[in-house]
Amino acid sequence: MSNKPRVFSGIQPSGEPHLGNYVGAIRNWVDDQERYDNFFCVVDQHAITVPYDPQQLRSSVRQLAAVLIACGIDPERSVLFVQSHVPEHTELAWLLTCSTPLGWLQRMTQFKDKSTGQGESVGSGLLTYPTLMAADILLYQAAIVPVGDDQKQHVELARDIAGRFNNLYGESFVVPEPVIRQVGARVMGLDDPTRKMSKSEDGQFHAVGLLDEPKMIQKKFSRAVTDSQTDIVFDPERPGVTNLLTIYQALSGETSEVIEARFAGKGYGDLKKNLAELVIETLAPIRQRYEELTADPSTLDELLAAGVERARPIAESTMDHVRQVMGLR
Ligand code: TYM
Repeated sequence: MSNKPRVFSGIQPSGEPHLGNYVGAIRNWVDDQERYDNFFCVVDQHAITVPYDPQQLRSSVRQLAAVLIACGIDPERSVLFVQSHVPEHTELAWLLTCSTPLGWLQRMTQFKDKSTGQGESVGSGLLTYPTLMAADILLYQAAIVPVGDDQKQHVELARDIAGRFNNLYGESFVVPEPVIRQVGARVMGLDDPTRKMSKSEDGQFHAVGLLDEPKMIQKKFSRAVTDSQTDIVFDPERPGVTNLLTIYQALSGETSEVIEARFAGKGYGDLKKNLAELVIETLAPIRQRYEELTADPSTLDELLAAGVERARPIAESTMDHVRQVMGLR
């Protein structure tokens, strides 16, 4: 058993992983890997809350697991596994759903956004999705949940769900904390800097995929929406240029002052070109490791099977306790 604080985080295999996922989450998981006892999960059961293609899902799960390893998640140091391979996630999700008030779920902004216009035909999994996410975290007694800004509300709900369960049935769960890095917690779409960069947005020039070819990356940045001004400064009133500068800051590790000084007197074209180069340089080794990993599918299968072996006993031990206190054993 490790005495390091436990981390749990997840990512959906619901489309190509993008620069927002990398900057807001994956790179932080990688950077802090040594400090924590880590559990990282490809959450396939979250990806079925909206219409999807089963064939596509199967290959996206593998692709995403390979991307995570290529980004630097070390399957020795961190437990990397697929959610549906540990059936305790859905069992705990149901048990938590039974003590979660409807109002807590209805006020989730992501539910409100995603269900808009669907009336009563909206899938009920989209509403109860945060109880599955709470189950993911609570099952491993994780203290820390590193996420991008858009998941903060869901992690806070997981805290409330844990607190309520502990009150009803006695101390059972560690109450988790969301951890959000300041820089890059919300990367915006390149085609529309007022919308979060997202896997489910359609536009060809919306998101930079982590496996995009260098030419495509250049093209996407060269088309990125900015504004009609010229100076290159961080300014919340100017979301396009600020988003580009933020990505630059996250990947270079430089301060905003140093970056503004670098681009003083230069034009948007220079910023876009320099940023594209930095992104290409960051993603090149990831693409290469990804190619190597996927050339040998059996290794990936073995790594994921080993992850389940390490995750399952912890999930089982939590469930033994939960079933007991709930009177189900
Ligand atoms: P998902 O798959 O949408 O995103 C994975 C991680 O990437 C972050 N992220 C972003 N960060 C910055 N800018 C963006 N544009 C951006 N888009 C996404 C997300 O905040 C997230 O950290 N429900 C979760 C997955 C999940 C989970 C969990 C996370 C399921 N169970 C338990 C933590 C703990 C989701 O849909 O993330």
